[in-house]
Amino acid sequence: MENTKKKSGFASGIGFVLAAAGSAVGLGNLWGFPFKTAENGGAAFVIIYIACVLFIGFLTMICEIFLGRRSQANPITSFKVINKNVGWFGLIAVAVPLIITFYYSVLGGYTVKFAFNSFWGNTGNLTNFAGSEWQVILFTAIFLIFALIVVMGGVKDGIEKASKVLMPALFILLLLVVIFVLFLGEGVSDGLKFYLVPDFSKITLSSVLAAMGQAFYSLSLGMGAMIVYGSYTGKEINLLKSASMICVFDTFVALLAGMAIFPAVFHFASVEGIPAESLKLQGLMLMFETLPKVFESIGPIGHVIEFFFFAMVIIAAVTSVISIMEVSSQFIIQKFKIKRKIATLGVAVITFALSIPVGISLGSMLNGGSILQIFGMDMLSFLDTVTNTVLMPICALFSCVAVGWFIGSKKAIRELCDDGFNQKVATALSYLIKYFVPLLIAVIEIFGVIGLIFPSGTFDVNGLGVALTSLAIVAILIVVYFIWLKNTNTGTNMDEIG
Ligand code: PFF
Repeated sequence: MENTKKKSGFASGIGFVLAAAGSAVGLGNLWGFPFKTAENGGAAFVIIYIACVLFIGFLTMICEIFLGRRSQANPITSFKVINKNVGWFGLIAVAVPLIITFYYSVLGGYTVKFAFNSFWGNTGNLTNFAGSEWQVILFTAIFLIFALIVVMGGVKDGIEKASKVLMPALFILLLLVVIFVLFLGEGVSDGLKFYLVPDFSKITLSSVLAAMGQAFYSLSLGMGAMIVYGSYTGKEINLLKSASMICVFDTFVALLAGMAIFPAVFHFASVEGIPAESLKLQGLMLMFETLPKVFESIGPIGHVIEFFFFAMVIIAAVTSVISIMEVSSQFIIQKFKIKRKIATLGVAVITFALSIPVGISLGSMLNGGSILQIFGMDMLSFLDTVTNTVLMPICALFSCVAVGWFIGSKKAIRELCDDGFNQKVATALSYLIKYFVPLLIAVIEIFGVIGLIFPSGTFDVNGLGVALTSLAIVAILIVVYFIWLKNTNTGTNMDEIG
């Protein structure tokens, strides 16, 4: 059946929800949310975070899924069908996830290595591993192969099937780890207090901005993924219900992750007689330095729990990375009319090649060196800042602007009403999407860039470099769009051949 066109898509609504939740639940939930919560006033921060999810994240998610679903095509075509002159919004939505994969795969490789260690009862050592270039490259390759196998399988037989198994598995593993940790005894209640006791005095403008940024990243918004997954759904999907389920699941997992991490760390600190706050409690260090020590101190059963924990982290990372690999693959499949397996392999090879310098740069930084730094940062931090602080909010903003202004709120309301929305709800949503959400995203963007250029109030030339690089990326993408893509066919889901 050479060159037979087929329409790809999710087979069921729940398959779509689990795949989208898989994209949303990632490292951001496990190492971003818990620490930000603890640092910004515990339950007080959680309340603000939930408000951000509800009023910004949820509405932006509706816009992204809606855009994909109405075009049944990749992000570029999704914007092009609205107006040819805004198709470049979609090109940004294709480029951002590609940039993210370069560093996310390296982190994925780290998680595979630590799961592997705990399986054999060993405790990983972050700096030794990070400094061993061949190991970093090998484990990044293993991680990418997991993702490649899933994406090569296609939407229904790869992404959907994998998500239907992996997401419940992730949830069960997380529950097991939480239950185990809550019964550790000593120090547990201090950990819970540190994490959740509300302290409204800690809520400042910067904590509100942290909550908004975290909501975006955690819900996989502004990275094309929800547009692409949305394009594989039809009218049988209830937008309101699906988006709510994805948001609730994502937030619940993030909350639970903190309930596993802080009680365990505080238990360890109490047993060792050291202040918990002296341990590294955030990001890379939390995950790959502090937690392995904590699990090791529990004895042989600690390694079992550690293995469960890292298996869960791998699942979270794989189900996220497949969503962004799918963004580039879908575009290549549709633009160049080539087979999925070849397109996906191409994306994986490019990602692998570019993840090598990122891995080397990160390893060097963790070992006190400065190989392959850009603007005073290792490449991972650089790419993370470019995407998180500048490009993702721009991309999310464009989705809301496209729905609220270019499609036009009236037309969008009509389409949403066709979707089973009550007229009043649709009208309220359309106003929020037109005025309120873009305004808040613009605020996040502006404060993000100001914070980059003037960290702690003083001018930083490196921050300016990062901001200008991000703008240069946007400018290049606009030029590429107008020269190459505006007047050529960029394809739809109907173009996938199999
Ligand atoms: N929502 C993801 C997370 O919280 O980790 C963000 C993400 C990052 C999605 C990287 C996909 C990805 F490859």
